Amino acid sequence: MTEKKWWKESVVYQIYPRSFYDSNQDGIGDLKGIIQKLDYFVDLGVDVIWICPMYQSPNDDNGYDISDYQSIMEEFGTMEDFDRLLDEAHDRGLKVILDLVLNHTSDEHQWFIESRSAKDHPKRDWYIWRDQPNNWESIFGGSAWEYDDKTGQYYLHIFSKKQPDLNWENEEVRHNLYDMVNWWLDKGIDGFRIDAISHIKKTDGLPDAQNPEGKPYAPAWEHMMNVDGIHDFLEELNQQTFSNYDIMTVAEANGVGTEDIHQWVGQSGKFNMVFQFEHLALWDGESNKDLNIIELKETLTRWQKTLERDGWNALFIENHDIPRVTSTWGNDSNYWRESATALGAMYFFMKGTPFIYQGQEIGMTNSEFKQIGEFNDVRTINHYYLKKQEGYNHEEIMAILNKTSRDHSRTPMQWNNQDHAGFSQTSPWLKVNDNYEWLNVEKQQNDEGSVLSFYKKMIKLRRQYDVFIYGQYELQMADHPTIFSYTREYEGVRMLIVTNLSEQPAVMDSFDIDKLLLSNDSDASSNVLNPYEARVYKLK
Ligand code: GLC
Ligand code: CA
Repeated sequence: MTEKKWWKESVVYQIYPRSFYDSNQDGIGDLKGIIQKLDYFVDLGVDVIWICPMYQSPNDDNGYDISDYQSIMEEFGTMEDFDRLLDEAHDRGLKVILDLVLNHTSDEHQWFIESRSAKDHPKRDWYIWRDQPNNWESIFGGSAWEYDDKTGQYYLHIFSKKQPDLNWENEEVRHNLYDMVNWWLDKGIDGFRIDAISHIKKTDGLPDAQNPEGKPYAPAWEHMMNVDGIHDFLEELNQQTFSNYDIMTVAEANGVGTEDIHQWVGQSGKFNMVFQFEHLALWDGESNKDLNIIELKETLTRWQKTLERDGWNALFIENHDIPRVTSTWGNDSNYWRESATALGAMYFFMKGTPFIYQGQEIGMTNSEFKQIGEFNDVRTINHYYLKKQEGYNHEEIMAILNKTSRDHSRTPMQWNNQDHAGFSQTSPWLKVNDNYEWLNVEKQQNDEGSVLSFYKKMIKLRRQYDVFIYGQYELQMADHPTIFSYTREYEGVRMLIVTNLSEQPAVMDSFDIDKLLLSNDSDASSNVLNPYEARVYKLK
């Protein structure tokens, strides 16, 4: 029997603060902006908000490069604003979780400034310094090593060169991080999303990566992702921090699979749940790999089944690192509303805690970026120049980036059809998507058939029926090429979710139906599903 927990019964809303709401008209979202929109979350029905990094940062990677863990980015406000946000959220029954970046800091963090100052500085060993670089490639492209003139050595950065990796082998580093984590927990926050945590352990000796193509740098996943020995660190982290509080923890765990997930979550785990990456790889805009529904069913069902008795899933189809799902997996022109809602229903009723990324609940789509200067994301810009070196021309690169860039999910939230989509009264830091005039919160707020109303109904259903939280998952119609369907069952109540994830009509099997609870189509009476039709039934 699954143990009951508040974090299992919650729906989480992810906020990218820079793009959410600008309260002081400088074109940048901020904490007061979030405070002003707290009632929006209450109206939507979510239980928890996750705020992407809002700590002091020079913003090389929009806050994921932290220069002071215990203060707030000036553009976002002050610690007083944060305390008020926390209080006002709690007053409304909302919980707040923060992003926790432990793999690296900014190169402008005091620790790194000291570390780089001299080879014999006591903090030298807090980061990873070598006389010679190995051949590892950074996740953001190029070498993972940066030469530092001052002392004539290289430091390791598996993300941008302004994000030097902390040396987790150093005990002092770990204990300083734990103190910081506990400081936030003692403030009364409700948990963390733990960034890039599967990268904290590197293979001893930092050996070169396999490099069959003989390139200057090679992907070094086997040496810096989910490396043997990582669980000693995670266990200690959990013991010294999380396990002493009743909080929600969700780890970003690239490279963790169903084979080893039980070391991460459940009885012998260190987190409540993880963001696994497998389903994200099923679509790839760069190599033109389209989503295959059979593969999607196989992948998500394997995660459901693996964590059936022990552990818990984090359910998500969008975040700030991937393009908009309605544009990639769905169809953002002819079947915009249908695909936005069908994809929502597909994942939302699985067993686990659903996460909604800001704007997903109104079906926001990819933007069109016409010039390289319109992009902001460090990874996107790095890719542009690396592709140039590889011989691609400008148009070819822009076509790729228009499919893959992380900036698609970071365009300002579309609140209404006024200038700058109601996000700000001034030009925002990143261009608003042109479709804000018809695609915005205000337009959908009072429309029963809107994507937003559909999300509200899904959230209500989860709240109304325990079976959507604790019920057993079974895949149905496993071999159907376009229908993703499953049942949930708990204490004698059975539900059926059916979604047609294609542009062709599809025929569903017959089931013993009691009643229809939710549909994204005006007519759900026959067994033929329209393109991207989604239905939720109670079974007899
Ligand atoms: C995670 C974040 C991403 C960030 C990276 C480095 O993957 O989600 O936005 O760039 O870690 O911190
Ligand atoms: Ca602002």
